[in-house]
Amino acid sequence: MSYRKITGPLVIATHNEGKLWELKQLLGPYGIEVISAGSLNIPEPEETEDSFQGNALLKARAAAHRAQLPAFADDSGLCVEALGGAPGIYSARWAGANRDFKVACERVRQELEASGVQPPFRANFTCALAIVWPDGHEDVFEGQVDGVLVFPPRGEKGFGYDPIFKPDELDKTFGEMMSAEKHALPGDGSRALSHRARAFQALSRACL
Ligand code: IMP
Repeated sequence: MSYRKITGPLVIATHNEGKLWELKQLLGPYGIEVISAGSLNIPEPEETEDSFQGNALLKARAAAHRAQLPAFADDSGLCVEALGGAPGIYSARWAGANRDFKVACERVRQELEASGVQPPFRANFTCALAIVWPDGHEDVFEGQVDGVLVFPPRGEKGFGYDPIFKPDELDKTFGEMMSAEKHALPGDGSRALSHRARAFQALSRACL
């Protein structure tokens, strides 16, 4: 499979300000102009696929078609082994209409308790990044970080499920680390830590 290099402006198919900011930080050093789907009034499609890659592609396809520019989208979530990979693609939805991740973390704890499984609770964060071109060319990359879940949650930093996830590489949860430590792209080419940074590393090697 041959990847296509990104040289010009890229539409970011998200209406989430946090994601937009993070993706601008990652793409900025490569001199890529970033345009948000929101600023072009491109609506976000419903996530109807059953995989991270499928949903990332679905979002990027819709934006590329509407903008007639290459478009970039991500989809990510927490997969808990003892829960058969849940919440997975439903990670955002487990937080309810109010997007309350204390509720989502507590639901994970309760479902583990109900399952009768004993710790360690193995889990991973996965992120898929997709780039779709108006002529139909598609590239998709995935990054994963493995770890264990800890209860009670630890740390006030980060977002989402960060306070309950401890990566195997470190003795602290994502909620106990600065965003730079979690998302850093090591300059020496060694492996990044977070699922999103790992997916971006793969994308940058192929397309930037
Ligand atoms: P989506 O990619 O917009 O469908 O949402 C993914 C959901 O997964 C987010 O709302 C978070 O709850 C969760 N998630 C994805 N990546 C992370 C992360 O790095 N830390 C904590 N939660 C995450």
